[in-house]
Amino acid sequence: MTSAIAPVRWEHDRLVLLDQRLLPGQELERVYGRWEDVADAIRTLAVRGAPAIGVAAAFGVALAARVSAATTFDGLMADLEVALKGLASTRPTAVNLFWALDRMRRVAEAARGRPLDAVRAGLVKEAQAILDEDLAANRALGDHGAALVPARARILTHCNAGALATAGYGTALGVVRSAHAQGKVALLWVDETRPVMQGSRLTAWECVRDGIPHRLIADVVAASVMARGEVDLVVTGADRIAANGDTANKIGTYALAVLARHHGVPFYVAAPFSTIDPALPSGAQIPIEERDALEVRRVGSQATAPDGSPVFNPAFDVTPASLIAAIITERGVLRPPYHF
Ligand code: MRU
Repeated sequence: MTSAIAPVRWEHDRLVLLDQRLLPGQELERVYGRWEDVADAIRTLAVRGAPAIGVAAAFGVALAARVSAATTFDGLMADLEVALKGLASTRPTAVNLFWALDRMRRVAEAARGRPLDAVRAGLVKEAQAILDEDLAANRALGDHGAALVPARARILTHCNAGALATAGYGTALGVVRSAHAQGKVALLWVDETRPVMQGSRLTAWECVRDGIPHRLIADVVAASVMARGEVDLVVTGADRIAANGDTANKIGTYALAVLARHHGVPFYVAAPFSTIDPALPSGAQIPIEERDALEVRRVGSQATAPDGSPVFNPAFDVTPASLIAAIITERGVLRPPYHF
C-alpha cells in the first residue's frame, strides 16, 4: 500500500513542495521560507495544477506575514500587499490562485486590532483550511463522479488533474480513483500532454503508484482509440470555469471535447467550486497563459526544432459549455445549461 501523495504541506513553519519538474525520475521535496521563492516555484511549475497553485500561494502569504518585520498592523498589511501582488503575477489562467489570495487578504484585513502574532497565526490556519477543504472537495467530487462511470469503463484523461495538481486525491483523477476503488475501471488512457508532458510524467506516475490500470498514448492517438470504440468517457480537470460553463483547461482539452462529441463519447469536467469564476460571463474573457517557446522547441535538453522557428505556445484552451456533458463538483454533478 502506498502512502497518499501530498504535493503541498506545511511543516515546522515552512512550506514543503514536491518538486514536480523532476518527476517521474526523482522524488524531491523542497522547503520554502520566503514568499518570493514560492512565487518562483509556481512560475516554473515546481508546483502546478489549479488547486495546488492556490494552496501553495495561500501558504506563501502566510510566509510573507511570518517573515515581515512590521510592528504595526498597517505595516504588516503593506508587506502582505507586496506578496499578494507578487504571487498573483505568477500565472494568469487558474482562478484558484486569485480565489485563494482574496481569501487570505480578507482574513488578514478582518484581523485588524488583534496582536500581530495572532494575525500571523490566523493566516497559517486559513491556508491550512484551504488545503483541507480542497482535499475534502476532491474526495466528494470523486465519489459523485464515480456514479457516472459504467462497469469495465475505459476512460480517457488529459494533463494531470490528480493528487499532484491539488491538495491530494485529485479532481479528474479523483473520479478515476473513486471508480477504481469500486472496481469499475478497466483502463485509463493517459494522454502524454505535449509540450510539458504532465500526462506521461505525472498522471502515469500516479497510476503506477496506485495500481490504476492505464495505457499511455501520444496526444495524437486519442482520435484513433475513440474511432475504435475503446473510450467510454473522457474526464478532465479545469483551470477556470466561466459563469456559462465554458471551461479553460490544459491545451489540447478542446480538441478532445470535439473528438468526444464526434464519436458520441460523454465529455466530463471535474473541478471544485474554487475553480468557478462567476465574474466572467463566458470563456472568451478567460486569460490564457502563453509559455516559453523552448517548451515546444525542446524535449528535455534535446532540440526538436530550429532555434529560429517562431512558436505559439498557449498553455490552455477553452472548451465551450455546449461540449460538456456534466461538470462534476463537490456539491454534485451539474448538467447543462450551466449558470454560475
Ligand atoms: O500548466 P498546469 O500543469 O498547471 O496545468 C494544469 C491543468 O491544466 C490541469 O488539468 C488543471 O489544473 C486541473 S488540475 C486539478
